[in-house]
Amino acid sequence: MAEVSLLIHDLDAAVTPDGTGPLRGEEFGELRVHSPASIAVSGDRIAAVGPPEKVLREIPPGAEFESVDGCGKAALPGLIDCHTHPAFLGDRAAEFELRSSGASYEEIHDSGGGIRSTVAATRAGSEVDLRSAVERHLGWMVEHGTTTAEAKSGYGLDRETELKSLRAIQAARQSSPVDVSPTFLGAHTVPPESDSAAEYVDFVVREVLPEAAPLARFADVFLERGSFEAPEAKRYLEACREHGLALRMHADQFSERGAIPLAVELGARSVDHLEATRDEGARLLAKSGVAAVLLPACGLFLDLRLPPARLLADEGAIVALATDFNPGSSFCESLPLVMNLACTRLGLSPAEALCACTANAAHVLGLDDVGRLAPGYRADVLLLDTPDWRHVAYHLGGDRFAAKIKSGRVL
Ligand code: NIG
Ligand code: FE
Repeated sequence: MAEVSLLIHDLDAAVTPDGTGPLRGEEFGELRVHSPASIAVSGDRIAAVGPPEKVLREIPPGAEFESVDGCGKAALPGLIDCHTHPAFLGDRAAEFELRSSGASYEEIHDSGGGIRSTVAATRAGSEVDLRSAVERHLGWMVEHGTTTAEAKSGYGLDRETELKSLRAIQAARQSSPVDVSPTFLGAHTVPPESDSAAEYVDFVVREVLPEAAPLARFADVFLERGSFEAPEAKRYLEACREHGLALRMHADQFSERGAIPLAVELGARSVDHLEATRDEGARLLAKSGVAAVLLPACGLFLDLRLPPARLLADEGAIVALATDFNPGSSFCESLPLVMNLACTRLGLSPAEALCACTANAAHVLGLDDVGRLAPGYRADVLLLDTPDWRHVAYHLGGDRFAAKIKSGRVL
């Protein structure tokens, strides 16, 4: 019998991705629905999930614990946002307005705005300002049910500001309820003071990476026209791998330029975006162990073509979804909204969308104890204020949570 600190009792349903590890192919979207259900929590871990009477039998008589009434509610695993850029200062509201009158994201980038304007604002602020910004952004994510998130640097692009960004992420990680996985996006784009992408990558590898690597778990690069081509991305990622970082890539957002074969060759954890991926690339990715991270809020925000989501899923890719929260291409921190877009625009089912934001996103982040409601997993639980779990995707921007529980603590 487990010592119980919290009992979520008499839920209409507790819904979780089935199995272990990432769910792909036939298994993608396979859910286990316990109905009715209770969840017993011991400290920061789930002790038992299942029929209420069975869970009650596992609690020692006379034990004292906090209870949450689950009547009329459905429980889901806390959501996992595996691709976000919360370490920035300033905003891009003026650029948003420009885009509303016809300027494209790439045109703004090519004329020195876009990412580079956020770089200027982020360089100008203090580490304390940046830490508060990351905390504020993580707070917005929690409101929408995110309990674990990746957080990228990438708006510094010089030694001082990249390290400042990673330290701000590390500090915010201590104070936020969200579990944060930091990523060194030292190769986001070429900063204004650099003459060439190759020269900039040399600088980052030599001058920034050795101190950045201990502050991060992943490395990321933007492989795209106007940022880095495959040879520079390869040099950067190989050096990062030597420093012990797992590899991610922003690629195939506007054009296909060799990212998927490179990701497969390097054994990257994921390729993210994929709006410009054609069938051959999608098939190669699907057969590999590299996950496909789809970012439909970014696609909507920039009005991009749609990624081949259905082909990827049907061919057996590890499909994850994320917000891509950032000030320029996806000022959106809501995974429920992303799940809705995945269903309405990408052809995923609500069950697939849930797997993509939980079990498969956990896999992208290399985490094996979050993303499911099962004994031994971290007690990150969302209670929807409806008995039908599909409302998490169906209610466009609704996010009606009755309670959010992070590591066994009711927030
Ligand atoms: O994921 N594609 C590159 N990076 C971000 C956008 C960053 C920005 O516009 O500030 C993205 O879309
Ligand atoms: Fe991104």
